[in-house]
Amino acid sequence: MTWLKLVEGYMPMQMITELAVCILFFSICNYLLKKAGIGVPKFWAGILVWCFVNLFYLKYRIYPPIPFSVRAIYGTVSACGIFMWVSGSQEEWLEFKRPIINVLDGNNFFTKSIRTVLLLLLPIGLGAFAYNSLLPSFEEPIELRTVHPAPPATTKVHGKTYVLQTAQQPYRIDTDGKYDPAYSNAHIVDQSMGRLMKDVNSAEDNPWDPNAKGYIKHVREGGEIFFQNCHFCHGDNLNGRGLWAFAFNPIPANFTDAGTIAQLQETFVFWRVAKGGIGLPGEGFPWASVMPPWEQHLTVDEIWKVIMFEYWHTGYYPRTWD
Ligand code: HEC
Repeated sequence: MTWLKLVEGYMPMQMITELAVCILFFSICNYLLKKAGIGVPKFWAGILVWCFVNLFYLKYRIYPPIPFSVRAIYGTVSACGIFMWVSGSQEEWLEFKRPIINVLDGNNFFTKSIRTVLLLLLPIGLGAFAYNSLLPSFEEPIELRTVHPAPPATTKVHGKTYVLQTAQQPYRIDTDGKYDPAYSNAHIVDQSMGRLMKDVNSAEDNPWDPNAKGYIKHVREGGEIFFQNCHFCHGDNLNGRGLWAFAFNPIPANFTDAGTIAQLQETFVFWRVAKGGIGLPGEGFPWASVMPPWEQHLTVDEIWKVIMFEYWHTGYYPRTWD
């Protein structure tokens, strides 16, 4: 129920007021029903109020969702409150207990049947609970993996050493060949999924234009490399849902997520693509990632170009050294 806003700063007061109004409403209803001779018995009223507070109000009204452990605390506190209410006087307490005592006494056919069913269900339920909690579980143990471990200072690819702090993407250049880190944004229109070119008919915006030069031409070449090598895992939309993705743990990176290439320096990505999962330092669990070490299959230029394509397609900028 997020349409009814919780006012920031007054949320606890609002919650207590709302609950009080609901309970007042219930009391009025019950009072009117009692007048008409069909009042809800105390026992069921108590259960209904408890269910309303815990299974409806706290679960669906309060947002963001409250974790179960916290709801369990509220459940206990509200049960205590309800007990205080139903045991306010001797008569009320007797009225509350009456259905329970009736079932235990089993004086007529109806209460006797309920008692028999309960006597059968209780041990079966307890047995099932005990069985379930003793059953061994075959789930994988949790692995804590650093997704973005600290990169090395330098990395050697195809015999050449790259200093990660100073290396530059050689293809992030404008049509005059000048390095321009913000070039891409001028040529795409922001879209939540996928990128749209500003002007499909312009060789500056459309990578498939035969006259495309510089940056935008390299994007196309990177795209070709991507669809020949990477999309099986990282997906057609670069969202990590490739054909093979579901077989792996950790799953392939989702480049459209703000937590991957958007927050990495381009040289970090270069190092990751060149060295793959196997080249990750110990904290990154190198043996668990299937990301291939692409230096074994691609040239340095191809690696830079495919990285260009990933940034172009997702519309993100590489992070700069700040
Ligand atoms: C066999 C599946 C597979 C293929 C093919 C593959 N990757 Fe990956 N890739 C992964 C997995 C799994 C991860 C996540 C685990 C990790 O970080 O190593 C990953 C992670 C990455 C990351 C790191 C992102 C981050 O946030 O740290 C980059 C960059 C990347 N891949 C680029 C590529 C490029 C470029 C290609 C193609 C040249 C490619 N991948 C092909 C499986 C694959």
